[in-house]
Amino acid sequence: MRLSRYFLPILKENPKEAEIVSHRLMLRAGMLRQEAAGIYAWLPLGHRVLKKIEQIVREEQNRAGAIELLMPTLQLADLWRESGRYDAYGPEMLRIADRHKRELLYGPTNEEMITEIFRAYVKSYKSLPLNLYHIQWKFRDEQRPRFGVMRGREFLMKDAYSFDVDEAAARKSYNKMFVAYLRTFARMGLKAIPMRAETGPIGGDLSHEFIVLAETGESGVYCDKDVLNLPVPDQNVDYDGDLTPIIKQWTSVYAATEDVHEAARYESEVPEANRLQTRGIEVGQIFYFGTKYSDSMKANVAGPDGTDTPIHGGSYGVGVSRLVGAIIEACHDDNGIIWPEEVAPFRVTILNLKQGDAATDAACEQLYKELTAKGVDVLYDDTDQRAGAKFATADLIGIPWQVHVGPRGLAEGKIELKRRSDGSKESVALAEAAARLAP
Ligand SMILES: Nc1ncnc2c1ncn2[C@@H]1O[C@H](COP(=O)(O)OP(=O)(O)OP(=O)(O)O)[C@@H](O)[C@H]1O
Ligand SMILES: [Mg+2]
Repeated sequence: MRLSRYFLPILKENPKEAEIVSHRLMLRAGMLRQEAAGIYAWLPLGHRVLKKIEQIVREEQNRAGAIELLMPTLQLADLWRESGRYDAYGPEMLRIADRHKRELLYGPTNEEMITEIFRAYVKSYKSLPLNLYHIQWKFRDEQRPRFGVMRGREFLMKDAYSFDVDEAAARKSYNKMFVAYLRTFARMGLKAIPMRAETGPIGGDLSHEFIVLAETGESGVYCDKDVLNLPVPDQNVDYDGDLTPIIKQWTSVYAATEDVHEAARYESEVPEANRLQTRGIEVGQIFYFGTKYSDSMKANVAGPDGTDTPIHGGSYGVGVSRLVGAIIEACHDDNGIIWPEEVAPFRVTILNLKQGDAATDAACEQLYKELTAKGVDVLYDDTDQRAGAKFATADLIGIPWQVHVGPRGLAEGKIELKRRSDGSKESVALAEAAARLAP
């Protein structure tokens, strides 16, 4: 992509409305535009990151055996009356009427709809286990939308729903999602800690929130520092095998949100030097809720003995759009964003330090062509800004690799390679640059 033809509306000034660094940087880097309180347009740079995150979530869901579908954003109120949640949900639900005065709502979550789909088709325990997910926009009319995409009203969520014949099988499904979440967040360069959590309006009695530690987070948390150093399963983890050793390892170290924190247990289990009381950002939550929805909505299957039994369910959310903010909270410095490679909007940015100089232009064009041919995502700064401004933009938008191309280096056939994460610079022969930068 040539920056001269791209749409990257960088802001020079710090936007006053942004209270936290991720919101400020997303606005300054031209990623996001507020259209109404808690409702945003994703500008091209932000959209690229959102799609990268979505794809990692998708790959890890698929690896764990979940199956993607897509449900609509609008749902019938009557469906929610079946579970009793239409009245229970309160003012956070956006209620809409169509031209026939039929009551609809913009889905804040999808337990009812997926249960309706499930019960229409699945009649026997032999079709289980089943886990269906989608990645779809949600609406919650939050009382205090704030912090940009962290607490929006419209936001992108991955939500998966598992169906099992009994509690033991449902726990296996829960464990698969637990492990998939460990992998998902680690791939994005995040340390997200599973913490015991309250179940809230979803219901049920077993739940973990995955929390990225950050002072600006909205959740209070208590944990044993040892939990920060536990190993994340690699991509060869066998989802059909026994996952309980992994779950035991992660859940035997104390980690809880303030809602379910037990002070006495914490003090007896966690040595004083290991106690960590801080704040964090909830990037995902998993629930096992038993037969809550299958009882009320009559989602039964014929069990092995032929009798009808209500299925045991779980639901599993990831805040896809919130993750963009959470990653920036965890990965930035005074100059801007530092994208982890897996979620970066571009892998490489070429800075032409003397636009209009024939040799410099030619070297940049050559490198741009070579990298593009190798399938590398490149942003080529071919604008007529001065070098200082190009450096500042590149640092602000946080592309992992910067290639500085100017007449001085080229006189010796060299370019400068800068790594955004640690600022380290290296002089590399122009002829070798493309090979070095291919992943
Ligand atoms: N208003 C929001 N804006 C952006 N992401 C959100 C919002 N509400 C929830 N999410 C994300 O969706 C995930 C799954 O939704 P869940 O129902 O667990 O949210 P929640 O517990 O109500 O979130 P919170 O406690 O932050 O309000 C959350 O873990 C979070 O990452
Ligand atoms: Mg939650």
